[in-house]
Amino acid sequence: MKYPLMRNNILREDLDAVIEHLRQDDPKLTHGEHVKAFEQEWSQWLGVKYSVFVNSGASANLLTMALLKLRHPEGGEVLVPPLTWVSDIASVLQNGFTPVFADIDPSTLAMAPQGILSKLNERTRAVFLTHVQGFDGIDDGVLQELERRGIPLIEDVCESHGAEHNGHRLGSLGWISNFSYYYAHHMSTIEGGMICTNDPLVYQQARMLRSHGMVREANDPEFRAEYQQANPQLNPDFIFAFPAFNTRNTEIGGILGRKQLKRLSANVERRTQNLRRFLNGIDPLKFRTDFKLEGSSNYAFNLILREPDEALVQRLMVHMKEGGIEFRRGSAGGGNQLRQPYLKGIVPADYHLEFPQTEHVHFYGFYIGNFPDLRDEEIDELCHYLNRV
Ligand SMILES: Cc1ncc(COP(=O)(O)O)c(C=O)c1O
Repeated sequence: MKYPLMRNNILREDLDAVIEHLRQDDPKLTHGEHVKAFEQEWSQWLGVKYSVFVNSGASANLLTMALLKLRHPEGGEVLVPPLTWVSDIASVLQNGFTPVFADIDPSTLAMAPQGILSKLNERTRAVFLTHVQGFDGIDDGVLQELERRGIPLIEDVCESHGAEHNGHRLGSLGWISNFSYYYAHHMSTIEGGMICTNDPLVYQQARMLRSHGMVREANDPEFRAEYQQANPQLNPDFIFAFPAFNTRNTEIGGILGRKQLKRLSANVERRTQNLRRFLNGIDPLKFRTDFKLEGSSNYAFNLILREPDEALVQRLMVHMKEGGIEFRRGSAGGGNQLRQPYLKGIVPADYHLEFPQTEHVHFYGFYIGNFPDLRDEEIDELCHYLNRV
C-alpha cells in the first residue's frame, strides 16, 4: 500500500526499551512496576486521578459497563451511538443494560446533542459517548443537563487521544473514560486499553474487575480490610468480590506505553496539521469538509461524500484501490451498527433507517490513514489524486 492506514507506530527506540528490559536476568513480564508507572504518567497527562491499564479498548468498555452494573444492579438504559465500535454496544448488552440509540451530528460524528436530550428518562443510567476519530463530541448543554439529572457521562476516547473540550482533555470530563492503544491508534502498546476516573470507589473496583474480582488487587488497605473482616473464613489473598475477568496487560505493554506517551502530544500536533492540509486540499464540492475542528485530534482522514451518489462511491473505491490507498468504508466500526447481525432481535427490523446521518456515513463515508510521518507532499498528492475521481 502506498498510503496505508498507519506507518511506524511502534518505533525502533520503543522496541529497544523492551529489549533492554528483557536483557535482565529473570525480568518481570506480568504486570508490575512499568504498568504502575504508565498508569500514573497517563493519569497526569490526561488530568485525572486514577487509571487502570488493561489488555484492550474493548476490555476497557466491558469493565466500564461492569462498573456501571455494580452501581445499578437493577439494570436500565444506556445511551450509545449507532456509529461506534462493536464493543461499546456489546458491553452494554453483556452487562444486562438496554442500549438506546441517538443519531450522529455530521460535524462531529458523535451523538447529536438534541438526540441525546430527547432520549433521557428516569431509566437512563449513563450516556456512553464515543468521540469518533478525534472529534470533540461533548456539548455543554448536554453536560449541564446530565449534571442536573445526576446521569453520568462515560467517554469512549479510543479514537481521540489528546482531543480537548474547553481546554480539558477528552476523557477527563466524564465519570469514567476508556482509551485503546491498538496499533493504528494515536499511540500503541500492541494491544492495550485504559480505564480512567476521578472516583476512588470506581478505581478500586476497576482494579479488582481487571484481575478476577480479587480483593487483594485493590490498593486501598481500608477497602481490603472491609472484605477481609466480613469474610474471616477466607484466605485474604483469595477473596473474589465479583464474578469478573482477567483483562490485565503486561510489563511489555507498560514499557511501550511509557515510551509512546512521551511522543503523544507532538504526534497529536502533527496529525492536526496534516488534517488541516488535507481539508484545504480535498474538493469541498465532492467531499464534506465542514467538521467541528476546535479541540480535535485527528485519528484518520474522513472522506465522506457530500451527497449520496452510488455511482461516485463505487468509482471512488476502485480509484482508491488503484492508487494504493488503504481505506475503511463506513468510518468508525464499519458504519451503522444497527445493521449488524448481533443486534437482530434486539432492535426492530429496519430500525437503522431511523438514523439517516449514520446511514449516510455507512454508505458514503470512509477513513484513510493520517499518521505523524505522512509528509506534506504525500498529503498534497493524495488530495490531488482523490479529487480526480
Ligand atoms: C471507539 C472505539 N471503542 C473501542 C475500541 C476497541 O479497542 P481495541 O481494538 O483496543 O479493543 C475501538 C477500536 O478501535 C474503538 O474505535
